[in-house]
Amino acid sequence: MSQRTIVTLPGDGIGGNVLKQAIRILEAAGFTAGYVEGDIGWEFWKKEANPLPDRTIELIKKHKVALFGAITSKPKDEAADELDPALQGKGYVYSSPIVGLRQHFNLDVCIRPCRSYKGNPLNFIRRGRNNTIEEPEIDVVIFRQNTEGLYGGVEWTDPPDKVYEALMTHPKFVKNFGNNPKNELSVSTRIFSRKATERILRAAFDHAREYKYRSVTLCEKPNVIRETSGMMFKLAKEIRKSDYPDIELWNTNIDAQMMWLTKNPENYGVIVASNMFGDIVSDGFAGLIGGLGFACSAQFSEEGIAVFEPTHGSAPKYAGYDISIVNPIAMIESSCMMLDFIGENKIAVKIRNAIAKVISEGKVRTYDMMKLPGRPDVIEKGAVSTEQMANAIIENIVS
Ligand code: NAI
Ligand code: MG
Repeated sequence: MSQRTIVTLPGDGIGGNVLKQAIRILEAAGFTAGYVEGDIGWEFWKKEANPLPDRTIELIKKHKVALFGAITSKPKDEAADELDPALQGKGYVYSSPIVGLRQHFNLDVCIRPCRSYKGNPLNFIRRGRNNTIEEPEIDVVIFRQNTEGLYGGVEWTDPPDKVYEALMTHPKFVKNFGNNPKNELSVSTRIFSRKATERILRAAFDHAREYKYRSVTLCEKPNVIRETSGMMFKLAKEIRKSDYPDIELWNTNIDAQMMWLTKNPENYGVIVASNMFGDIVSDGFAGLIGGLGFACSAQFSEEGIAVFEPTHGSAPKYAGYDISIVNPIAMIESSCMMLDFIGENKIAVKIRNAIAKVISEGKVRTYDMMKLPGRPDVIEKGAVSTEQMANAIIENIVS
């Protein structure tokens, strides 16, 4: 069998630091692959006016699977100022390469697991009956529709006449907004297609079945957002009835779900939601299991292109430290999701067990796990570096 090739996309800031350690761990756990590095991020914006060069797109198209660190995005004006002077004033406009990747490959299914590790000092705790302290065990996987809805980009300020005329055909628009001058109106649409909605719902149900979760919770607001959330709820009921009768379908509203998050997070298993609500609910759950140092994710297209990345950004503040202090676990967990995806689940289990052991022993902790402000002096205060955390995980891999 020919060797698999993984595209590595370190990107900016701490992206490269955490990615380097994740690859060391993959190798230590016995995963054999070739790696090719793809250019992405701020440096390429500055040099080439394109943070996502075509050669990188081609690499991903060829090898299909990519591990992505993080990129830096800056506001439009700053982006224009930092462009190579030879390229300035030629109409180049910066746009985020990770959003670009999602759009180019239609990475419409996003998965964000949130599992608590025993002994993580950042785990959520709550007060129980008789003043006891409880630490609920959280094992939730959020399926977020990644391309449509409120982040679909179909929006206007001072909408074009045809759009305005179309809006004026809706009695509620006339009643609620019709008295405003057109140029004082901003409109962001929330469009769902049946196809993409069905894909995210089926991905959630399939996952629940494969990993033996009892329920799928649809987290929307169908009682108020009747058309889009309503369509998603209706489809969920149909799909469940015809193809997944063994799995329960729960329906929660996004606002109530955020309240229940801290009340009974252990009750939830698979959660499925539209783009923005999925973003919100996954950040909420990530906060309960340790935050950005632990939050991993995967994004897939129908054609089998998959990109795995930590949820955090490039944390530029920490990028220049002589010794990297950031927590590599979110990136390592993301690479475990890659292993699951390509059928190397046994290696993923070995790595996850090693992470669990390091955390439960409690001797090796990055600065975030010690609740220290992120500064170079955290090492003197007993925190380990990015590399030392990876070393500890490697030492605990049982072959
Ligand atoms: P960020 O996620 O980079 O950092 C926020 C804070 O979270 C950091 O200051 C640090 O305290 C903590 N943090 C992040 N990663 C950590 C880790 N691995 N271990 C321990 N602590 C960690 O978000 P921020 O500061 O809002 O954005 C910085 C840059 O990253 C911006 O240019 C932004 O556009 C970009 N960004 C990129 C993303 C991506 O590549 N997918 C996602 C989010 C932001
Ligand atoms: Mg977010």
